[in-house]
Amino acid sequence: MQYGDYRKYQEITNHFETNSIGQQIFYFDKLDSTNNYSKRIAAEGAADGTVVIAGSQGSGRGRLGKEWHSPYDNGIYMSIILKPELLPVNIQIITLAASVAVAEAILKVTGIKTGIKWPNDILVSDKKLCGILTEMVSENGMTGFLVVGIGINVSEGRYVIPAELIDKATYIQADRFTLVKEVLFEMDLIYKKILAGSYNDIIDKCKEYSVTIGREVRIISEMEEFPCTAVDITYDGMLVVVCPDGTRRSIMSGEVSVRGMMGYV
Ligand code: BTN
Repeated sequence: MQYGDYRKYQEITNHFETNSIGQQIFYFDKLDSTNNYSKRIAAEGAADGTVVIAGSQGSGRGRLGKEWHSPYDNGIYMSIILKPELLPVNIQIITLAASVAVAEAILKVTGIKTGIKWPNDILVSDKKLCGILTEMVSENGMTGFLVVGIGINVSEGRYVIPAELIDKATYIQADRFTLVKEVLFEMDLIYKKILAGSYNDIIDKCKEYSVTIGREVRIISEMEEFPCTAVDITYDGMLVVVCPDGTRRSIMSGEVSVRGMMGYV
């Protein structure tokens, strides 16, 4: 652990009044994955809102078993432990909430208006800037705890995108400490709404930032794959699509991948 950075991140809590998010922050120079570490400490009793940040990750994970490129000093790698009393069916709102928190924070810190690709990607000019991996551990049919992992490609200087990602990924230039602080601040506001059962504002914001609604997309799951048009997001976070035969379907995020017909978006 780098003591200087640890102090810096811990100071976040002194700068604003959060109810729960970021009351406790753990910083490490390197972890295998902030999600893995968070799951471990959440099971051992870490409090709701605890945040784990790493300078780099040896085995950063993305959705659907993909790797998350996590070089030192070139990104924000952080996980937030949440212990809400929510039914597992309502969990997908959390990923959308985190997407909105990141989009709002980036807008405030850099002035850049990003787009949310349902359910978990933040894009700039149709390239991926941030991914969110929400993992749930349930107990007796209820949500035991959640770990919301956030990876943002951000650098204070030069950023080298690996050749294989050059068509799909991008980054922003910003001060990482300021951006982390803002994401946690936004997440705290949004989390309060979730705990109060008030999801509508979050979904409205999500629609405002959405780059998925109105697009021709392909829904890809283990069971099926089909083309359709994304038309809406429901107030419980599902993507509404219209199939070529005119039927409307509501898609849960789970194991589904949404691909643009012409490319990534
Ligand atoms: C995705 O787009 O597929 C999700 C990427 C999530 C990456 C973050 S980085 C911090 C946290 N720890 C991980 O191992 N993954 C998430």
